[in-house]
Amino acid sequence: MTEILAARSSSPTPSPFLGGGSQPLLEIRNLVKYFPITRGLLKRTVGHVKAVDDVSYSVMQGETFGLVGESGCGKSTTAKLVLRLINPTSGQIFLDGKDITYLDGAGLRAMRKDLQIVFQDPYASLNPRMTVRQIVSEPMIVQGVAKSEANARVDDLLQLCGLAREHAARYPHEFSGGQRQRVGVARALANKPKVIFLDEPVSALDVSIQAQIVNLLEDLQDEMGLTYVFIAHDLSVVSHISDRIGVMYLGKIVEQGTREQVFSHPSHPYTKALMSAVPTPDPKLERLRKKERIVLEGDLPSAADPPSGCRFRTRCWKATDLCAAEEPALVDRGLGHPVACHFPE
Ligand SMILES: Nc1ncnc2c1ncn2[C@@H]1O[C@H](COP(=O)(O)OP(=O)(O)OP(=O)(O)O)[C@@H](O)[C@H]1O
Ligand SMILES: [Mg+2]
Repeated sequence: MTEILAARSSSPTPSPFLGGGSQPLLEIRNLVKYFPITRGLLKRTVGHVKAVDDVSYSVMQGETFGLVGESGCGKSTTAKLVLRLINPTSGQIFLDGKDITYLDGAGLRAMRKDLQIVFQDPYASLNPRMTVRQIVSEPMIVQGVAKSEANARVDDLLQLCGLAREHAARYPHEFSGGQRQRVGVARALANKPKVIFLDEPVSALDVSIQAQIVNLLEDLQDEMGLTYVFIAHDLSVVSHISDRIGVMYLGKIVEQGTREQVFSHPSHPYTKALMSAVPTPDPKLERLRKKERIVLEGDLPSAADPPSGCRFRTRCWKATDLCAAEEPALVDRGLGHPVACHFPE
């Protein structure tokens, strides 16, 4: 990842902090998703998986919002909720100021054009029976674009994503992982979406290829003014590409701020632990990091039965009785950015 870190020298200025000025392009307010756990023939509900539990964030036009956290903390569920692939238990989603939470029918179809997703696994996310041309043109055809126009746009999109026109006639199995992910990006761009969710878009790829795809995403963003929500489980890619970052733990955002705030002043113990796992190119900092490496003990607790009070307390070295008794709110505790911890760093 050092390669990626070095590659991005001209990062855009961070967008204003939450609520700090112009209207966000995408705003998520108090989003909740509980999946019912059912038992027996009658499918009696015996509990709930609290996959996303009161998550709020907003994304400004042209910026990248990074969502980071361990496997199972609810990152993909958040994306699926916003894209309305699943319905929320409660909460609201606004796109360009319009409430899209309960859209259906034609309204939902029209909205789908504005929100797109690139999945983690480029092997599973492309239909093996379709040619690249069919894959990339499909979203346009669904939206009623004429076939000739869609075809012409496929050629442009492939070129934009670093593929050649002749690739259009080929099938996914004829490509490498990196090339397939380029096809996935071309498909996501087809309808000129307002926001693209990138759900771990490089974690299934070879390290050498990861940097190429990240660079492609950044170039496309600069050229087309794209807005991204970048999801990942490790901080290294997120820290590099994001303007602002939300750190998620067990269905909740525990710390949120600009990249500089989160990196220069990580305040939640969980963020500190994640950061201590990120290698840096600076040998001095790297020695320090290795010395102060925080290795989290224990597994992520079950989202069906999260700990009382602060959900991180069972793995936190600072936890006291207060943490078990009272859930810390995600608020600015005098550090300039919100953190959900009774004893922030
Ligand atoms: N359809 C579903 N039914 C029941 N539980 C689900 C469903 N989808 C997700 N979950 C649960 O919700 C929680 C959050 O899952 P999610 O896929 O959002 O996590 P994630 O942060 O994207 O993880 P990963 O890094 O592994 O992709 C997990 O406990 C998962 O098992
Ligand atoms: Mg996921």
